[in-house]
Amino acid sequence: MTTTTTAIILAAGKGTRMRSALPKVLQPLAGKPILQHIVDAVEQANIDQKIIVCGHEAELVKHTINAEHLQWVFQAEQLGTGHAVDCAMPSVTGDKVLVLVGDALLITADTLSRLIAQCPEQGMSLLTAIAPDPTGLGRIIRRQDGSVCSIIEHKDASETELCINEINTGIMCLSHDVLEEYLPKLRSDNAQGELYLTDVIGLCAEDEVVINAVTADFNETMGVNDKLQLAKAERIYQQLQVERLMQQGCTVIDPSRVDVRGTVDIGMDVLIDVNVVLEGQVSLGNGVIIEPNCVLKNCQIADNVHIKAFSHLEEATVGVSAIIGPYARLRPGAKLEKDVRVGNFVEIKKSQIDEGAKINHLSYVGDAEVGKNANIGAGTITCNYDGVNKFKTQIGEGAFIGSNSSLIAPVTIGENAVTGAGSAIAKDVPDSALGIARAKQRNIESWKK
Ligand code: UD1
Ligand code: MG
Repeated sequence: MTTTTTAIILAAGKGTRMRSALPKVLQPLAGKPILQHIVDAVEQANIDQKIIVCGHEAELVKHTINAEHLQWVFQAEQLGTGHAVDCAMPSVTGDKVLVLVGDALLITADTLSRLIAQCPEQGMSLLTAIAPDPTGLGRIIRRQDGSVCSIIEHKDASETELCINEINTGIMCLSHDVLEEYLPKLRSDNAQGELYLTDVIGLCAEDEVVINAVTADFNETMGVNDKLQLAKAERIYQQLQVERLMQQGCTVIDPSRVDVRGTVDIGMDVLIDVNVVLEGQVSLGNGVIIEPNCVLKNCQIADNVHIKAFSHLEEATVGVSAIIGPYARLRPGAKLEKDVRVGNFVEIKKSQIDEGAKINHLSYVGDAEVGKNANIGAGTITCNYDGVNKFKTQIGEGAFIGSNSSLIAPVTIGENAVTGAGSAIAKDVPDSALGIARAKQRNIESWKK
């Protein structure tokens, strides 16, 4: 017979210590809600049933978190972690029940699997850690033979108990029968007047139910209760992300000054300079260089692309050996082919820029197609919007757009066509023609000031 496992994630609390209108479990870490990190780890651990106990801002929490086959249980009043688990019990189908606090977000699927494996058929396993500073956490009380005897919450602990630095991570796995038997026995005669799930351990120990303690690294199990702990957890998380990049051969100039808020696929010999933020799904080809202070969100960057300092790229695709920036902005739908150059103060939105085209200075290119090797002069604007609708600009292969041209869309500039500097081009320019639309210069002789 195969045993099945149910995970219950406790996420009904307000998180008062965060001092925020946003519920604690939705506070972002690396751009992703705390609770979503936990749900993702549970998902990876191949658990049969996933239940989240919600309460405070339940609708918002439900709408924000996504995962397949999640079950939600509502805890109207937050009467303690034991009560929260009790609320979920009628929905539980698994033989083993993995309980997770909704704020220990760095937990990995590996550790969860290890804990589940250590849970006996009629007993429990408890994840503990050695905390450098155990303030606020439940302490693990052991007997002389080393077996776990109970958990004492910080607020209920005596002076000597407070000296214990082995703590309850809030993550445990219990056989369904044990949980069912001991939950009704919880009492709220403690400092917080709550039904503590942690009291199940003491009751089990009294009855000699097997309790297997499994230890984990404190950093992986820390719960975040306030903004200080959130910032600490963020640093730990970022350190892990950047280590992963370096293990894949990426040169990171300063590992403490790169942030990953999503997933990064990375080639060989990539160089990332300081203060770079990678968000969403980012892929970086071989030999990509990212200079300081760049943000890349949901971008695909091909081999040997060079992104110069202070560039901002979002939902953009950049072809092989292109050079971007400094101070460039690629907005959603910017698609740059091989060897394209985009220089300073250039904004590109929803446009296809073909191989070898250059847009080097101070331009706005939106809803456009720019042909191969076209050269867009400084200060060119595609006037794509009339206040109501958006229109397209087409620029042919080899075209040369003179500086400070306004291309009033819809408009087509032919292949190898030229526009005169300072033109407002409202009509199509045929292939190889010069389009010029500006007032003629008049010189007035002997002009005196
Ligand atoms: C809890 C543990 C403590 C452990 C610590 C680890 C208890 C009594 N204490 O304390 O031993 O060291 O986690 O981080 O279990 N929640 C509900 N409903 C409730 C109460 C809480 O869903 O009625 C949820 C909260 O949303 C939170 C989680 O349970 O996600 C833990 O609650 P929290 O207040 O953070 O407990 P700690 O004081 O950190
Ligand atoms: Mg907590």
